[in-house]
This record gives sequence, C-alpha cells and structure tokens, in this order.
Amino acid sequence: MKLVEAMSRIGVESAFEVLLKARALEKQGRSVVHLEIGEPDFPTPKHVVEAGKQALDQGWTKYGPTQGLPELRESIAAYISRTRRIKVGPEHVCVVPGGKPVMYFAIIALLEAGDEAIYPNPGFPIYESMIRFQGATPVPVPLSEERGFSFDLDVLRDRLTSQTKLVILNSPANPTGGIMPAEDVERLAGMLRERDIMVLSDEIYSRICYDGEPVSIASFPGMLEKTIILDGFSKTYSMTGWRLGYGVMPEWLADAVVKLMVNSNSCTASFTQRAGIAALDGPQDDVTGMVAEFRRRRDVIVRGLNEIPGFRCRIPAGAFYAFPNVSGTGIPSKELADLLLYEAGVACLDGNCFGAYGNGYLRFSYANSLENIQEALSRIRKASERWTK
Ligand SMILES: Cc1ncc(COP(=O)(O)O)c(C=O)c1O
Repeated sequence: MKLVEAMSRIGVESAFEVLLKARALEKQGRSVVHLEIGEPDFPTPKHVVEAGKQALDQGWTKYGPTQGLPELRESIAAYISRTRRIKVGPEHVCVVPGGKPVMYFAIIALLEAGDEAIYPNPGFPIYESMIRFQGATPVPVPLSEERGFSFDLDVLRDRLTSQTKLVILNSPANPTGGIMPAEDVERLAGMLRERDIMVLSDEIYSRICYDGEPVSIASFPGMLEKTIILDGFSKTYSMTGWRLGYGVMPEWLADAVVKLMVNSNSCTASFTQRAGIAALDGPQDDVTGMVAEFRRRRDVIVRGLNEIPGFRCRIPAGAFYAFPNVSGTGIPSKELADLLLYEAGVACLDGNCFGAYGNGYLRFSYANSLENIQEALSRIRKASERWTK
C-alpha cells in the first residue's frame, strides 16, 4: 500500500517537532526554556471556562448546526463588523475547530493545479503546505526586514499573473510580528480590486498589537466580496486547546466550507461554541491584561536579543514573536537553533521553518514568563562566547 502522491507535497509545522526534541532532552534531565511554541501561556479567562462548564451541565454535548451555533455566528458577525468597520451577517460566518481549518477549507475550495497563490515568506508554514497539497503553485513574496517585515508591493505586483487565484495576508504576522501599514493594505486593495483574485486575510493576531492597529483589507471598497477573514479564539482568549475559530467570507464560499465541514467534522463542539459567546460578549479585561504583559516581555526580549553579539532584532508591532537577524554570528540559523537547544537549553525556531526568506533569522516566542525569558537571554549570552571568540 502507498500514500497518494499529494501526501508527498504536504508539509508540517516545525514548532511541534522542536517541542518533541526539547521534551526528549528534558526527559534526560536537561533544563530547557521553551520559546518555540506559539501559544499564550495564560489561562483561558475564568468566565469563559465557567461558560464552557455550564454548557456541559446544560447538555450542550450534541451535534450542532454545521455552520456553527446561530447565537455564536451572530456574536462573531457583530464583533467583526465592529472591529473591521464592515457590515457582515451570520450568513457570512463559518465556525470551525480552530483558525487552521479556515485556511485548509478555503485553500481546498479555491485552488487546484494550474493556479498560483501568493503568500508571505517568511510566513506561517501551513500556507505553502496547503497550496502545494492542492497541486497549485506557491508564489512566495518576501517580507523585508527594512520595511518592518511588510511586503515590497512592487515585488508583489510583479508576481501577479492571470493564474493568480489567491493572495494570503497575515497581519500581525507570524513569525515576524510585523503589521502591514494601512497605506500598504490600501495600495494592495487597489491592485486586487479589479482582478479575479480572492484574499485570505489571516487576522488571528488582530488583538495582539502594541504599536498601531492592523487594518483589514476587507474594509476597503470592493474587497469584502473578495476576502476571507480568518480569526479565532486560540490567541486572543488563550483557548488553543478548545479548538475554536471562524472564517468570515462571501456566502458562495461559506456554502462550500459548510460542505467540507459536513464531510469532515460535521460541526464544531457545541459547548466550546457556548464558551466562545462568553469570550466575545463578556468582559475583555483578560485580553487587555495579557497584551500589556506581552508588551512588557517584548521590550525585555528585544532589548536582550539586541545585546547578543551578532543578533539584530527589530521591535515587533504585534503577535508574540521576536525575529532577530542572526547572520552577524556567522553561524547558519539552523545550526544556531540546534546549538541553542542542545548546548544552551533554549528552544527556538530556525527562520527557515517559515520559508527560504527566513534563512538567517531565529523565532523566539515570548509566550513565556519574564523570569524564563531572562533566563533564556542569559543562557544565549553565555553561549555567544562560542561565536565571539
Ligand atoms: C498565523 C497563524 N494562523 C493561524 C494559526 C492557527 O490557529 P489555531 O490554533 O486556532 O488553529 C496560527 C497558530 O499558530 C498562526 O500562527
């Protein structure tokens, strides 16, 4: 027996692989500071957990509507309309188990062999993986450090062809923490408006921003009908394990996503969705507190990384990742990530995990306590003696 050919084209997410390596070291008694995983280290807000428990007690333990509970879709539509300054209704919302299935379903529904899809590089690895899986051609557009890890829009425009079916955006971004400036989003909207191209706008980090607010491309004239907004509860409400996310999209595409859901998950867990309503409609103090703490950590880690010989780190405007350029160490970033893990006990990711343009960078997630971040910095400083001698 053998797997289908498409399986040879599907990728993985390296963060989980590095986590396994780190855990193996810990099993041998070694100490590792975990800065590899992109998961808030805060508990899910208490009132959200309570709503989930209450939902279980009330019997929200059965199949629900495939597209999502109508009350949750109403809440999401109101939230997205308010925060993105657009007008969408529950008919545009598909609730799915996490943010990832939105990209999975959208890419399956929109791309096939012969199509091209533009995506940010370095970027979330699943974009390229899924484009390839569908037999479409991935067209990376580099994010440049000099532009605060935003696209060079002239390069992007040059890569648009008659085959381009999809443009993927991610702002604030993983792994760079960059936010696309509003004027760039507007210019890009101008380039795409008249073309037969859909935009997958991954806005999963929309609430985790420190300097300026991200602007959704859906808010520009003519773009709402061409955009899939991907968002969810994993990062904003520290709900990674609840598996709850959603896409907001034109109805013709929502119908297709519902069919894919019928064929895969049937529906998203009902009690999880009840907790989602409490998250969106309840107090937001936990989110504010979490973002304030992330900002403190960001300032500490960026300052610390910039003091390491050979490291140069920009201040990320959003998300919870620092993405220093480490080419000044003279050590290839993959080798350096291994060195930091095996010799210094600091788990981070090689920039190549996010595509070829990530070469020469490392990603540090600062979803860990200030104390652990300080410890990691001191371990890296000590290890730097190896490349300064
Ligand atoms: C850019 C980006 N999009 C989507 C996701 C997926 O989120 P979820 O855990 O809700 O599937 C992640 C998670 O790391 C991410 O970084």
